[in-house]
Amino acid sequence: MSCDIGLYGLAVMGQNFALNMASKGFKVCVGNRSPSKVELTVNRAKEEGSLPLVGSSGPEDFVKQLSKPRKIVILVMAGKPVDETIANLSQYLDAGDVIVDGGNEWFHNTLRRAKELEPKGIHFVGMGISGGEEGARNGPSLMPGGPKAAYDLIEPIISKCAAQVNDGPCTGYLGPVGSGNYVKMIHNGVEYGDMQLIAEVYDVMKTVLKLSNDEMAKIFEEWNSTELESYLIEITSKILAKKDDVTDTGYVVDYVLDKTGMKGTGRWTIQEAAERSIAAPTMAASLDTRYISARKDERVKASAILKGPEMTSAEIPVHKGQLLDDLKSALYAAKVCSYAQGLGIIRAASDDMKWNVDLSECARLWKGGCIIRAALLQKIQDALARDKNLPNLILDPVVAGELNDRTAAWRRVVVTAVGYGVATPALAASLNYFDAYRRERLPANLTQSQRDFFGGHTYERTDREGVFHCLWDDSHKSIGDIKERT
Ligand code: 6PG
Repeated sequence: MSCDIGLYGLAVMGQNFALNMASKGFKVCVGNRSPSKVELTVNRAKEEGSLPLVGSSGPEDFVKQLSKPRKIVILVMAGKPVDETIANLSQYLDAGDVIVDGGNEWFHNTLRRAKELEPKGIHFVGMGISGGEEGARNGPSLMPGGPKAAYDLIEPIISKCAAQVNDGPCTGYLGPVGSGNYVKMIHNGVEYGDMQLIAEVYDVMKTVLKLSNDEMAKIFEEWNSTELESYLIEITSKILAKKDDVTDTGYVVDYVLDKTGMKGTGRWTIQEAAERSIAAPTMAASLDTRYISARKDERVKASAILKGPEMTSAEIPVHKGQLLDDLKSALYAAKVCSYAQGLGIIRAASDDMKWNVDLSECARLWKGGCIIRAALLQKIQDALARDKNLPNLILDPVVAGELNDRTAAWRRVVVTAVGYGVATPALAASLNYFDAYRRERLPANLTQSQRDFFGGHTYERTDREGVFHCLWDDSHKSIGDIKERT
């Protein structure tokens, strides 16, 4: 059969996305470096109701089976394997064909590949896919960036395969090549933030309130039908409730080693935030905490050397009901600030790269299918639709009102956690972001004065125009070339 689309790379995500497309009625040809996965996917398609999916024996055969202009999604490991796959396939492709890379790829690699394919007239699209195995099979969030003509060719297919929400499929044209990978990278940075914030709340519940796993599971379940409703809250409740069937005692989560791995998209997010001069303290704190968690052996030694406070509830009184309410408010407010940071990075990159990414569209296509799907995204979409030039999400009147209503609770949580020696770096980072951003005057006047003192870096004044340098003390008089100037 002549296939509507090809999918190359049949690891978990590839297999499931191929089956998803086939189950929507598209004829899919699949290919993979090792043939066993091709056979496996073809068999799965048969078992799942004779889905229209065929295998291929190699790159040439794979390309031959596709109708023109050919549309190919590749889902192989980011980096070198993507280059190799493109080289293997592109030799059989023609001008007008489209390659879509669905991996978590560094956007600069995507920009380079698009350029390399340009002379051949092959269109290249970088499309972030979120939702894990389940999402890939039943409806992920798809974040494509590439030439509009190429997007138009794949749109009928991806729109049907994406998760569907109240206002359509969780996909849409984000902008030129690179923008799709970028938006997915930020999605992952936000994912790191969400996960860390939830972990901190769990830590306070467990360490300060001494709640049982079942109690915590129930609270997260309840929270999931409030403004905190989200996939990550939902799975947290399920994780906490899961009994261990290896030992038949206790809960799986308590046996899981406290070391967080990572593939790197969160690190890229922070690198990019620095590159664009955007503050992203919540996501940075989440990344830092993963690094600290990874040093388990050091932490074990440190726990015998470094002392925390020996606080009891008598010294810092905690009221269970109050603290739980506060945690809920703090989690929500801190999450909003983290999303504001993520969107700020996308905006800065989009301006620098002239991508023209619509932030409310990003929020819209994160509403379903992806790991950070959450009720909050509707509010973000609404805020950005009200004013697409909003300099910061937290300046939207509705969002600002929600934050202002929660600051007292948020502060109580951070103060309590500090008192008990429970690290809450992301909750506190978000609060500090909020407190720094809302201040008309920061102590940056002193920092800038220090810069001028030791380096003659100059400063501006609050009372008059111009650039100034001060001879702060006698020792600086000897620096002949630096003078007071306006
Ligand atoms: C998704 C996830 C997915 C993956 C991350 C995990 O959107 O489906 O983000 O891309 O789970 O790569 O990232 P770390 O391994 O860096 O935690």
